[in-house]
Amino acid sequence: MSEHIFIPSRRVFLGTVGAAFFTTRGLFAEELVKTPAQTEGPFYPNKLPLDTDNDLLIINDTITPAVGEITHLTGKVTDLKGNPVRNALVEIWQCDAKGVYLHTRDSDGKKDQQDKHFQGFGRFLTGSTGEYYFRTIKPVPYPGRTPHIHFKIKKGGKELLVTQCYIKGHAGNQKDGIYKSVRDAKALAAISVDFTPIKESKAGELAAKFDIVLGQTPVG
Ligand SMILES: [Fe+2]
Repeated sequence: MSEHIFIPSRRVFLGTVGAAFFTTRGLFAEELVKTPAQTEGPFYPNKLPLDTDNDLLIINDTITPAVGEITHLTGKVTDLKGNPVRNALVEIWQCDAKGVYLHTRDSDGKKDQQDKHFQGFGRFLTGSTGEYYFRTIKPVPYPGRTPHIHFKIKKGGKELLVTQCYIKGHAGNQKDGIYKSVRDAKALAAISVDFTPIKESKAGELAAKFDIVLGQTPVG
Protein backbone atom coordinates (compact mmCIF):
# COMPACT_ATOMS: atom_id res chain seq x y z
CA MET A 1 0.00 0.00 0.00
CA SER A 2 2.71 2.41 0.99
CA GLU A 3 4.60 1.51 -2.21
CA HIS A 4 1.58 2.49 -4.28
CA ILE A 5 1.55 5.90 -2.68
CA PHE A 6 5.30 6.34 -2.92
CA ILE A 7 5.67 5.52 -6.62
CA PRO A 8 3.06 7.88 -8.05
CA SER A 9 4.19 10.74 -5.83
CA ARG A 10 7.76 10.20 -6.97
CA ARG A 11 6.62 10.30 -10.58
CA VAL A 12 4.75 13.49 -9.98
CA PHE A 13 7.78 15.01 -8.34
CA LEU A 14 10.06 14.10 -11.25
CA GLY A 15 7.49 15.30 -13.68
CA THR A 16 7.40 18.69 -12.04
CA VAL A 17 11.17 18.99 -12.16
CA GLY A 18 11.16 17.95 -15.79
CA ALA A 19 8.54 20.50 -16.71
CA ALA A 20 10.37 23.27 -14.88
CA PHE A 21 13.59 22.30 -16.60
CA PHE A 22 12.10 22.39 -20.07
CA THR A 23 10.29 25.64 -19.41
CA THR A 24 13.57 27.26 -18.44
CA ARG A 25 15.29 25.84 -21.47
CA GLY A 26 12.43 27.04 -23.60
CA LEU A 27 12.86 30.58 -22.33
CA PHE A 28 16.53 30.56 -23.17
CA ALA A 29 15.88 29.07 -26.59
CA GLU A 30 13.39 31.82 -27.39
CA GLU A 31 15.64 34.64 -26.26
CA LEU A 32 16.76 36.65 -29.27
CA VAL A 33 20.23 37.98 -29.96
CA LYS A 34 20.57 41.49 -28.59
CA THR A 35 21.54 43.99 -31.29
CA PRO A 36 25.05 45.15 -30.36
CA ALA A 37 25.67 48.85 -29.75
CA GLN A 38 28.03 50.63 -32.13
CA THR A 39 29.69 54.00 -32.02
CA GLU A 40 27.52 56.97 -33.05
CA GLY A 41 30.34 58.38 -35.16
CA PRO A 42 30.91 62.08 -35.78
CA PHE A 43 28.14 62.68 -38.33
CA TYR A 44 24.75 62.53 -36.60
CA PRO A 45 23.25 65.60 -38.35
CA ASN A 46 24.20 68.78 -36.52
CA LYS A 47 21.29 70.46 -38.26
CA LEU A 48 18.28 68.36 -39.15
CA PRO A 49 17.12 68.45 -42.78
CA LEU A 50 13.94 70.33 -43.69
CA ASP A 51 12.27 66.99 -44.10
CA THR A 52 12.78 64.19 -41.59
CA ASP A 53 10.25 61.63 -42.80
CA ASN A 54 10.98 58.01 -43.67
CA ASP A 55 11.57 58.62 -47.38
CA LEU A 56 15.19 59.68 -47.75
CA LEU A 57 15.00 59.77 -51.55
CA ILE A 58 12.71 62.79 -51.77
CA ILE A 59 13.12 65.97 -49.75
CA ASN A 60 9.68 67.47 -49.12
CA ASP A 61 7.93 67.53 -52.51
CA THR A 62 10.88 68.05 -54.81
CA ILE A 63 10.75 66.21 -58.11
CA THR A 64 14.35 65.05 -58.37
CA PRO A 65 15.08 62.00 -56.27
CA ALA A 66 18.40 61.15 -54.67
CA VAL A 67 21.02 59.18 -56.58
CA GLY A 68 21.68 55.61 -55.48
CA GLU A 69 20.35 52.08 -55.40
CA ILE A 70 16.83 52.38 -54.04
CA THR A 71 16.38 50.26 -50.93
CA HIS A 72 13.26 49.45 -48.96
CA LEU A 73 14.63 49.08 -45.45
CA THR A 74 12.33 47.45 -42.93
CA GLY A 75 12.57 45.73 -39.59
CA LYS A 76 10.99 45.23 -36.24
CA VAL A 77 11.96 46.65 -32.87
CA THR A 78 11.47 44.07 -30.13
CA ASP A 79 12.69 43.14 -26.69
CA LEU A 80 14.72 39.98 -26.07
CA LYS A 81 11.58 37.85 -26.00
CA GLY A 82 10.37 39.15 -29.34
CA ASN A 83 7.67 41.43 -27.92
CA PRO A 84 7.24 44.38 -30.28
CA VAL A 85 8.22 47.79 -28.94
CA ARG A 86 5.68 50.43 -29.88
CA ASN A 87 6.30 54.19 -29.91
CA ALA A 88 9.98 53.59 -30.53
CA LEU A 89 11.50 56.40 -32.56
CA VAL A 90 13.82 54.83 -35.12
CA GLU A 91 16.29 57.31 -36.61
CA ILE A 92 18.68 56.52 -39.44
CA TRP A 93 21.41 58.56 -41.06
CA GLN A 94 23.90 57.71 -43.76
CA CYS A 95 26.10 59.36 -46.37
CA ASP A 96 24.80 60.02 -49.88
CA ALA A 97 25.85 58.03 -52.97
CA LYS A 98 28.98 60.20 -53.23
CA GLY A 99 30.01 59.50 -49.64
CA VAL A 100 28.95 62.85 -48.14
CA TYR A 101 27.13 63.18 -44.81
CA LEU A 102 24.52 65.76 -43.93
CA HIS A 103 26.84 67.31 -41.38
CA THR A 104 28.60 70.61 -41.95
CA ARG A 105 31.91 69.11 -40.80
CA ASP A 106 31.70 66.71 -43.74
CA SER A 107 29.59 68.54 -46.34
CA ASP A 108 31.22 72.00 -46.03
CA GLY A 109 34.31 70.83 -47.88
CA LYS A 110 32.43 68.67 -50.37
CA LYS A 111 29.75 70.97 -51.75
CA ASP A 112 30.44 69.98 -55.37
CA GLN A 113 30.33 66.31 -54.55
CA GLN A 114 27.24 66.30 -52.34
CA ASP A 115 23.91 64.95 -53.58
CA LYS A 116 21.61 67.81 -52.57
CA HIS A 117 18.57 65.61 -53.16
CA PHE A 118 19.43 63.01 -50.57
CA GLN A 119 17.72 63.58 -47.24
CA GLY A 120 20.53 61.87 -45.32
CA PHE A 121 18.43 61.36 -42.19
CA GLY A 122 14.98 59.99 -41.44
CA ARG A 123 12.67 59.03 -38.61
CA PHE A 124 9.95 56.48 -38.07
CA LEU A 125 7.74 56.00 -35.02
CA THR A 126 6.76 52.35 -34.53
CA GLY A 127 3.17 51.26 -34.00
CA SER A 128 1.87 48.24 -32.12
CA THR A 129 3.77 45.77 -34.32
CA GLY A 130 7.13 47.42 -33.62
CA GLU A 131 7.85 47.59 -37.34
CA TYR A 132 9.54 50.44 -39.17
CA TYR A 133 10.01 51.32 -42.82
CA PHE A 134 12.39 53.58 -44.72
CA ARG A 135 12.96 54.21 -48.39
CA THR A 136 16.61 55.02 -48.79
CA ILE A 137 19.73 54.04 -50.77
CA LYS A 138 22.02 51.07 -50.40
CA PRO A 139 24.94 52.38 -48.33
CA VAL A 140 28.23 53.05 -50.09
CA PRO A 141 31.77 53.04 -48.72
CA TYR A 142 33.70 56.21 -47.92
CA PRO A 143 37.39 56.48 -47.03
CA GLY A 144 38.07 54.45 -43.92
CA ARG A 145 34.66 52.80 -43.64
CA THR A 146 32.79 49.88 -45.11
CA PRO A 147 29.18 50.69 -46.15
CA HIS A 148 26.81 51.12 -43.22
CA ILE A 149 23.63 52.82 -42.06
CA HIS A 150 23.57 54.47 -38.63
CA PHE A 151 20.63 53.80 -36.32
CA LYS A 152 19.46 55.44 -33.12
CA ILE A 153 16.45 54.13 -31.19
CA LYS A 154 14.68 56.39 -28.71
CA LYS A 155 11.58 56.05 -26.62
CA GLY A 156 9.96 58.85 -24.67
CA GLY A 157 13.04 61.00 -25.35
CA LYS A 158 15.33 58.36 -23.86
CA GLU A 159 18.08 56.93 -26.02
CA LEU A 160 17.88 53.13 -25.98
CA LEU A 161 20.38 52.03 -28.61
CA VAL A 162 22.87 53.45 -31.11
CA THR A 163 24.14 51.04 -33.72
CA GLN A 164 25.00 50.53 -37.39
CA CYS A 165 23.86 47.96 -39.94
CA TYR A 166 26.05 46.55 -42.67
CA ILE A 167 25.82 44.77 -46.01
CA LYS A 168 26.22 41.07 -45.32
CA GLY A 169 29.28 39.64 -47.03
CA HIS A 170 30.63 42.99 -48.27
CA ALA A 171 34.38 42.71 -48.89
CA GLY A 172 35.05 45.92 -46.93
CA ASN A 173 33.56 44.55 -43.70
CA GLN A 174 36.65 42.53 -42.80
CA LYS A 175 38.85 45.62 -43.04
CA ASP A 176 36.55 47.81 -40.97
CA GLY A 177 37.65 48.32 -37.38
CA ILE A 178 34.20 49.29 -36.11
CA TYR A 179 32.55 46.28 -37.76
CA LYS A 180 35.23 43.94 -36.44
CA SER A 181 34.97 45.37 -32.93
CA VAL A 182 31.92 43.14 -32.49
CA ARG A 183 33.57 39.89 -31.42
CA ASP A 184 30.51 37.71 -30.92
CA ALA A 185 29.56 35.90 -34.14
CA LYS A 186 25.82 36.00 -33.44
CA ALA A 187 25.90 39.69 -32.62
CA LEU A 188 27.86 40.36 -35.80
CA ALA A 189 25.34 38.36 -37.81
CA ALA A 190 22.58 40.47 -36.24
CA ILE A 191 23.98 43.68 -37.77
CA SER A 192 24.88 42.16 -41.17
CA VAL A 193 21.90 42.23 -43.52
CA ASP A 194 21.15 41.13 -47.07
CA PHE A 195 20.26 43.74 -49.69
CA THR A 196 18.16 41.60 -52.01
CA PRO A 197 16.84 42.62 -55.43
CA ILE A 198 13.04 42.77 -55.47
CA LYS A 199 11.94 40.46 -58.30
CA GLU A 200 8.94 42.54 -59.34
CA SER A 201 10.95 45.75 -59.51
CA LYS A 202 11.92 46.80 -63.02
CA ALA A 203 14.04 49.62 -61.58
CA GLY A 204 16.27 47.16 -59.68
CA GLU A 205 15.09 48.18 -56.24
CA LEU A 206 16.38 46.33 -53.21
CA ALA A 207 14.90 45.10 -49.96
CA ALA A 208 16.76 44.89 -46.67
CA LYS A 209 15.50 43.76 -43.29
CA PHE A 210 17.20 44.78 -40.08
CA ASP A 211 15.48 43.68 -36.89
CA ILE A 212 16.46 45.50 -33.73
CA VAL A 213 16.47 43.64 -30.44
CA LEU A 214 16.71 45.82 -27.36
CA GLY A 215 18.45 44.47 -24.29
CA GLN A 216 15.95 45.94 -21.89
CA THR A 217 12.19 46.15 -22.12
CA PRO A 218 11.30 49.83 -22.28
CA VAL A 219 8.42 50.95 -20.09
CA GLY A 220 5.21 52.25 -21.69
FE1 LIG B 1 29.23 56.55 -40.78
